[in-house]
Amino acid sequence: MKFAIIGGTGVTDSSFFENQQSMNVDTPFGSVEVMKADRGDNEVFFLERHTKGHKLTPSQVNYKGNIYALKKLGIDFVVATTAVGGVQNCRVGDFVILDQFIDFTKNRELTYFGEKGSGVVHMDMTEPYCSTLRRALAESMERCGARYVDKGTYVCTEGPRFETPAEINMFKILGGDVVGMTNVPEVVLAREMGLHYATISLVTNYAAGISETALSHKEVLECMDEMAGALRSVLLDLIDSMKPEIICSCSNSLAELNMI
Ligand code: HPA
Repeated sequence: MKFAIIGGTGVTDSSFFENQQSMNVDTPFGSVEVMKADRGDNEVFFLERHTKGHKLTPSQVNYKGNIYALKKLGIDFVVATTAVGGVQNCRVGDFVILDQFIDFTKNRELTYFGEKGSGVVHMDMTEPYCSTLRRALAESMERCGARYVDKGTYVCTEGPRFETPAEINMFKILGGDVVGMTNVPEVVLAREMGLHYATISLVTNYAAGISETALSHKEVLECMDEMAGALRSVLLDLIDSMKPEIICSCSNSLAELNMI
């Protein structure tokens, strides 16, 4: 099988996979660099969301190019990672397997179907994240003894600034569990492409106003570093144990629109 890992902030090291080689995938949205590697009989493609050296802000990330590249590579399962602030129902150091999101972005291209002449597409988002992959991830978390929460609502902000305590209070009232800056439109584009896509959020800090101290990117990176070993174990376990049994309908999203 072919797996892709989208590495977010602080998840940049793919050296634990064998036979790594860098490659560029051409897309209508520009060239996308990925590291291709092996894990047993599986192929793993590692993509740094913010590019090497974290050069792009959340608003500048090439979401359309990244997801298009994974589709072109024929990836079976995509696991994305995101650093998040904890709002409720989680603790710093937890992994959260997202099941819902709320979109508070303001300046992003949210669909492949907006171009003139491409038609209007209203994609169903009842179950935004792949249930096949979410279940497999929860099983891997159990086997690895990782501290995790099996569902959570992600609030996506535009960034790059952190939130105000008033905003976090509003997100909490609305039912948000974690807050980050990059999961939208990635999750939406993945569904538009019919990919099996799930996200593990890593709670690196309590969100603004809940945290007793001011937030910093340094704190986020330090916590990501501490969680890196556990994340690696979970990802390797998932790849080694993933069965091709599908319980979701992610790959039918385009068929229903007669696009494939
Ligand atoms: N807010 C937004 N994005 C984040 C945070 C946060 O508190 N922590 C890590 N990424």
